[in-house]
Amino acid sequence: MAEAVTVIVPTFNERDNVEQLVRRTAAALAGFRAEILFIDDSTDGTADEVARVAASASLPVRVIHREHNTGGLSGAVVLGLREAAHDVCIVMDGDLQHPPELVTAMLSRYARGDADVVAASRYIGGGDSAGLGTTMRLGVSKAATAITKAMFLRRLWRSSDPMTGFFLVNRARIDIDVLRPQGFKILLEILVRAGERHDLRIAEVPMAFGTRQHGHSKASLRQGATFLAHLARLRFGKMGLFALIGGIGAIVNIGIMWVLVSAGTDYVLAAIIGAAVTIIGNFVLQELFVFRVERRDASRLWVRFTASVSFNSIEAALRIPVMAWMVEGWHISSVLATAISLVVAFFARFLFHALVVYAP
Ligand code: GDD
Ligand code: MN
Repeated sequence: MAEAVTVIVPTFNERDNVEQLVRRTAAALAGFRAEILFIDDSTDGTADEVARVAASASLPVRVIHREHNTGGLSGAVVLGLREAAHDVCIVMDGDLQHPPELVTAMLSRYARGDADVVAASRYIGGGDSAGLGTTMRLGVSKAATAITKAMFLRRLWRSSDPMTGFFLVNRARIDIDVLRPQGFKILLEILVRAGERHDLRIAEVPMAFGTRQHGHSKASLRQGATFLAHLARLRFGKMGLFALIGGIGAIVNIGIMWVLVSAGTDYVLAAIIGAAVTIIGNFVLQELFVFRVERRDASRLWVRFTASVSFNSIEAALRIPVMAWMVEGWHISSVLATAISLVVAFFARFLFHALVVYAP
């Protein structure tokens, strides 16, 4: 007997996409015990359109129209998880960027019985992210994915696309009450927060992320900021600590230089000594505090030390020529160039340490 499934579709002004979405989803799920559940925050009559289409659909189609949009897209999904008739839930966008036909591949992957979550990934073999549009958005998406994975290594190691909005989850395997929905990245929230207790098993199927058919995307700069806040909230700990140690290191570095130069040392030599002390000190503090859990293998201490110190030395040596190049090439002030280079260096260092030096 095939699994019973609820397809949860969050909608914000998707009226013109409803009919096709229901038709294609129903066709794909013929033979399954299934329902489609819309969680709607629209102002364009999407809910009425769902009711109209439901009347002639070959499977149960329900819509819950919310009076207050709490938690945005993620809040809608969490409500859907609570209200679904079945434990196995598939969350799918309402704009047909997620091809409804993929639900059968997700269900058969789930039927193997070794996964609690099956995510549709744009970034594994056979997947495609072309629907994201501009190279800029693709680049931002990839960078955000890399940083997020680095921040939640243990939870996300097996996930190539933790930001996807198309996934299957067995609701009985997660504690819905621990979720704090915010913004767009509900799968990330589930994997990180709900995975704390249960160690969710993640599987993936490739997805070709399509282009929107009607209406327009609700992604915005504001969503970008919400995403950063979400990340900070999920894991202030590790990156916050890494940043703190880096900041202390920078102050110590300046202090050492000041003392040495006042004592008459040549400033180039003072800079080299200051940087060396800071880099080694940072490494010790990272080992003790930031990557405490990850540094299981004591015998690899020297490998980690060499990798960390080389990376930071190269980064420190490169920063000044790169800044000079930014000032010349982009015609920006040296203060701005310093700020940009420090931010980029911070993320580069964090990524390198989380993904390479302390890889699980
Ligand atoms: N109920 C509800 N409330 N639904 C919403 C809201 C909201 O506040 N905001 C957006 N939605 C619905 C949209 O109607 C659509 O069905 C779905 O959520 C995705 O919104 P889009 O505006 O189409 O977002 P996108 O295409 O930029 O983002 C998608 O791709 C991202 C990956 O790049 C989403 O799937 C994201 O979750 C995903 O991270
Ligand atoms: Mn979309």
